[in-house]
Formats: sequence, structure tokens, C-alpha cells
Amino acid sequence: MLNYETHEYDVLVIGAGGAGLRAAIEAAATRLSVGLVCKSLLGKAHTVMAEGGIAAALANVDQRDDWKVHFTDTMRGGQYVNNWRMAELHAKEAPACVRELEAWGALFDRTQDGRILQRNFGGHKYPRLAHVGDRTGLEMIRTLQDHGIHQGIEVHMECTVVTLLQDDGRVVGAFGYDRERGRFRVFRAKAVILATGGVGRAYKITSNSWEYTGDGHSLAYHAGADLMDMEFVQFHPTGMVWPPSVRGILVTEGVRGEGGVLRNREGRRFMFDDIPELYRNQTSDNEEEGWRYTQGDPDARRPPELLTRDHVARCIVREIKEGRGSPHDGVFLDIAWIKERLPTAEDHIRRKLPSMYHQFKQLAGIDITKEAMEVGPTTHYVMGGIRVDADTQMSNVPGLFAAGECAAGLHGANRLGGNSLSDLLVFGKRAGRYAAEFAAEHGAGTIDEAQIESTATWALRYFESNGSAPTEAENPYRVQADLQDMMQDLVGIVRTESDLRKGVEALRDLAGRAQRVTVPGNREYNAGWHTALDLRHLLTVSEAIALAALERKESRGAHFREDYPDKDENEARENIIVRKGPDGEMQVTREALPATRSDLQTVIEEMQ
Ligand code: FUM
Repeated sequence: MLNYETHEYDVLVIGAGGAGLRAAIEAAATRLSVGLVCKSLLGKAHTVMAEGGIAAALANVDQRDDWKVHFTDTMRGGQYVNNWRMAELHAKEAPACVRELEAWGALFDRTQDGRILQRNFGGHKYPRLAHVGDRTGLEMIRTLQDHGIHQGIEVHMECTVVTLLQDDGRVVGAFGYDRERGRFRVFRAKAVILATGGVGRAYKITSNSWEYTGDGHSLAYHAGADLMDMEFVQFHPTGMVWPPSVRGILVTEGVRGEGGVLRNREGRRFMFDDIPELYRNQTSDNEEEGWRYTQGDPDARRPPELLTRDHVARCIVREIKEGRGSPHDGVFLDIAWIKERLPTAEDHIRRKLPSMYHQFKQLAGIDITKEAMEVGPTTHYVMGGIRVDADTQMSNVPGLFAAGECAAGLHGANRLGGNSLSDLLVFGKRAGRYAAEFAAEHGAGTIDEAQIESTATWALRYFESNGSAPTEAENPYRVQADLQDMMQDLVGIVRTESDLRKGVEALRDLAGRAQRVTVPGNREYNAGWHTALDLRHLLTVSEAIALAALERKESRGAHFREDYPDKDENEARENIIVRKGPDGEMQVTREALPATRSDLQTVIEEMQ
């Protein structure tokens, strides 16, 4: 007889970053019971890695900004494969969400006349990122947590969900275990919201910490939900490259927003060498104008360092590949140079970029007010994810909702910096509201004991002590590391058909090895066991990324195919959909994007 604790809620939220917290707050406001499950400690979320700000057209710094410009920037940045309805809702609702956060106690940097200060970021036409130095995501989490804690939400920390429970197709709960003791838990719920963040741990170099193994994507996929556009993985241009122990840690785009420039080993600002046609009329071709832009001159065009992330990352890779990189396989990011222009530069840097100052001082022994940093691309975000209805955030599986990074649509082929924080506020709130509505309209479903038994049996089979250890036992950490190396090498920033095919082949082999994983010890505090269980999620999302990347035979946004270096305008209106076939195989199909609503198309054309 299997032992497990049971918890029962109207709405269960899995994931407690910004999207999960915002969803839980909204659902709890309807007086329904809400459970919130987090894999780690409450407050430890990738949201804090969105350091530089929340994008919202508040127009506090440049009055020309409005939702239409933000909408158009988001669509252009996403190279027009975005879900236009999500982009519309996001641009229209983000300002109110930021003001709400302020009303709940979030502190922001201020303009001279006391309004929320906004800074420049890549791909945003006007200074749009409401920020608190370079700790905006942290401030957001702190505020949501403080607010949420008074709403009667029950929090389950350090708890990992292994599978979603279904009743005749509808999601009616989740099954997982607490990480401390390894005890099983069943969560019954009338509606479930996935807000588990991204998939960064499928790659070797990433800004994501250990929790981000694609759990929500994989849970939804195995429950029958469609995944969309998984090929679009964002490599943030600036992660730390040295020392090796900190490789991948994020260096905020806010550094470039404050005037930081990229140089190669020859000291040249290589970003001037390649300005894409789409942005040519918005981008400066000289240092002076770029500097004026970062200082808020409304008539100046942006410096090329503030082009979109996909482009900047590829330019950095090109410099490194062609032998013009920095000593540790990166390039130089220099904010110290602003001393030439600003007498108070050192103070300014420490005030606007306090975390970066301490991060480099403590981890790399570099004083960024005096020396350049070494940086290189790091896996940061996945634009692809669970396909959801734009208004309600419900997936194609009844009762299953998704918000934030694990949901697809808003960002298209490439996300603009700062749009993640506004995304999770706008769509976290919507997911909370509509999941609560769904819960109010539906009774609790029936929990399938057989599904719980078989999942528990699967989870426990990894223990050596269960007597069925295979002869060629594998170590979970080794399999995970080999998967990360392979994804970095074959399914990374620059892709080709032959590499992707090798990648798919390698994944089959890794899946076989994952079957042979065994772990010593018992269920208490057993990190090896946790890693073994995460492998299923990592393998699922990695296969989805590789197969979708093979299917999209063009280069668009974050997906760059060396063998198809141009955009294929015929493919412009297609999403790549991945779903589980009846035989359990991963199926990949293409679907035409719905035509953009005519008034929104007019907005895009007017803004051009
Ligand atoms: O660079 C950054 O501060 C990251 C922001 C984001 O990913 O939105």
C-alpha cells in the first residue's frame, strides 16, 4: 500500500516565480482555496535574473511611448511569429500591472519629478524599463511574496511534481514528492496552473539555476498539451565567462542600457559591423550618437549594442570564432569607459548597477568601474512552450493553464529584454483569474489510484536497493552532463541539419542511458535521485527543441540555421507544434498562424 499525503485545493499553482505568485494572488482574491508548489525555497526563482527592468509603456521618460509602440516593438523583436493577441494584451495591460506592483510596495528608481524611472533596453524604441538598479526581478519577487503571504495561499516549498493527474483527459491534480524526505504527495485540484519557468538546464552554459529542467513543459506535454515553437531558445549575449565556476551567470543588459559597449580583443566596437536591415533606421552608426541615446537624447538613435539579443549573441560568437575574442572565449563589455564623458561615472555605475559591481568584484576580482568585463552568450530563456489561449491561458488540455516562461506565444522568435517581467505579471494575473473561474464551474474530478501507483513505482525503480539494478548502471549526473554538452554543441546558437540530426540521435542514446540510471541510498535528502527524476523532463524538452529546430528550415530570431541563413517568408506565418502521438512518439507538425487582426496590422504598418 503506497503512502502519501493528500492536499486539496480549488486551484493549484506549480511554480512560485513571478508568474506563479501573481497567478496565486489573483486566484486567491476570488476566495477559492489555492495551493502553491515550489521546487526550491519560496523566493528563489529565475525571475530575479531579469535584472534590468520591467517593460511597460508608462511614458514617464519619453512621452511618445504608448501601447502601440510597445506592441510593434514586441512583434518586430519576435519577427512576427508572435501570438498577436497576446502581444496586444501584454502591451495594453503592462502599465497597470506595474502600477499595481508599486501600490503593493515595490520600490523603483525615480525620475527627477518622482515618477517611475525607465531605462533603454535592446529592441525597445523608447526608454521603457521600469527598474530598481539592476535588482528589478528581485524586487518584484519580494513584493509579490509579501503581498501573497497575506492572501491565505498555502505554500509547499521544496516539492517536485512528477506527473499531472487526469480524469478523462481533464487535469485534476498533481503527484510529487518533498525533496527533504522524499515522501510522496498528491495534490487534488479543480484547475492547475503551470508556472515552472524555463529549460536552461538542458544546456551547459546557462543563467538558469538547477531548478530549470523544463518541468512544466514536460508535464504538460505528457498530459497531452501542445508545445509550440520550442526551437526558439534565447541565448542572452552577456553571461560571465571567467572564472569557469561562474560561467553563464547573467550580466544584465542594463549595463549596455547605461552606456556599456562591446569590444573585441583589438579594441574595436564590432557591433557597428553588422546592423540588420530591419533596424537600420533606428540604429546609430557612430559612437557619439549612441552615447547621446543612452543619456536620454530623444532625437538620437540607439547604439548597436542595444540591438536584439539574438543578433548581438551571434555577433559575439562570430568575433570569438574568427579569433578576435577575449582571453577566455568571450568579448569585452566596457562600462568603465563612460568616465571619459561623465565626471561622476564611478558613483553612477555603483548606483545603477550595484549587483554587477559586487558580482564582478567578488566572483572575478574585477572592478567594473575601472576595467572591462569578459562576457559571452548564455542560455537564458525559452520563447517556445505550452500553447495557450491568449485571453485565458488555458492549454488544449481542460483544466490545465500555463503562464510566464513555460507558456508560448507572446515573444515569437525572440523576446525583448524586460518583456518577461511584464509577461509574467499580465499573464500570471490572467491565468489566476481564468483558472479560478474554471474551478468555480467544475467539480473535483476523480483521482486515478492506478496512475499514482504506476508513477510511484517508476520513481522508486532508480534505487539500487530495489533489487532490479541493471548490469550497466548509469550515474544520473553523468547522463545530465552529457546531455548538456550535447545540446550546447549540436543544438546551440548556430545550427545545421547534420548537427541537429546527430543531436536527435544522441538524445535517443541518452534516453536509453537514462533508463539504466541507478542511485544509492534512500529517499531522504537524495540529490542523485532528484537528478534522475529530472532527466525525463530534460530529455523531453531537449527532444522537442531539437525536432522543432530541424523542422524550421530558415533563420528567424533566436533560431539560426547556418544552412538556411535567411528568413523564409513562406514560413513566416507558421508555428511548429510538438505533441505526443498515440504511440508515445513525439510528433512535429506545422500550423499557419492566424492572420493579424486588421487594426493591429494597421498599427504595425503605421509604426514602420
Ligand atoms: O539582462 C537582463 O537584465 C535580463 C532581463 C530579461 O531577461 O528580461
